[in-house]
Amino acid sequence: MLNVALPKGRLGEKVYDLFARAGYECPSILENSRKLIFENEEKGVRYFWVKPSDVAIYVERGAADIGVAGKDILLEYQPDVYELLDLKLGVCRMAVAAPKTFRDDPRKVLKVATKFKNIAMDYYAKQGRDIDIIHLNGSIEIAPILKLSDVIVDIVETGKTLKENDLEVLENVVPISARLIANKSAYKFNTEQIEALTESLAKMTERGNV
Ligand code: PRP
Repeated sequence: MLNVALPKGRLGEKVYDLFARAGYECPSILENSRKLIFENEEKGVRYFWVKPSDVAIYVERGAADIGVAGKDILLEYQPDVYELLDLKLGVCRMAVAAPKTFRDDPRKVLKVATKFKNIAMDYYAKQGRDIDIIHLNGSIEIAPILKLSDVIVDIVETGKTLKENDLEVLENVVPISARLIANKSAYKFNTEQIEALTESLAKMTERGNV
């Protein structure tokens, strides 16, 4: 059985759909229930729904053999896993944004609110810019409005949240999308099985079939 950690939520549903079309279906997962574990013995797969930001933890520690995590999580937490494939789902970007009225003064310490502390610190360290990091857990867009921060480093997908809060993108930090990841020893012991699955998924993504 290949244990697969999927990110719960909208992205996870698209990811499961891709796995199913690649030949790893598990119809019971579509039943409306609160169950978190589903398996298809015949296909040799067992799926778990976990919080998107926890997928890499399950995979790194071997509770799951493979999983799907956002590049944002991989960059932020640097889990010790193999990154096998860009699934080209959940495509968005990490960006610096601020209120439209914001004018930067490079001589001043920049106050940055974010959920992605390491990505933000790394980004500004490369520019040699002194920053004051304010670590938040969500609704980041509100921080510069209430003057908690000057700017935010956050995920922008459609740009709707920024627009509705009168914020705009100042700089792009890094493109983000969902990645197939594998536990290192699981990969070593199940190379064939994991490679076969990776190839089937790659065929789907190459066809633009995602
Ligand atoms: C994410 C992100 C932005 C929003 C971007 O938030 O942090 O707030 O989505 O999407 P958009 O560009 O399409 O508007 P999420 O829904 O994960 O909520 P949270 O960060 O507030 O927890």
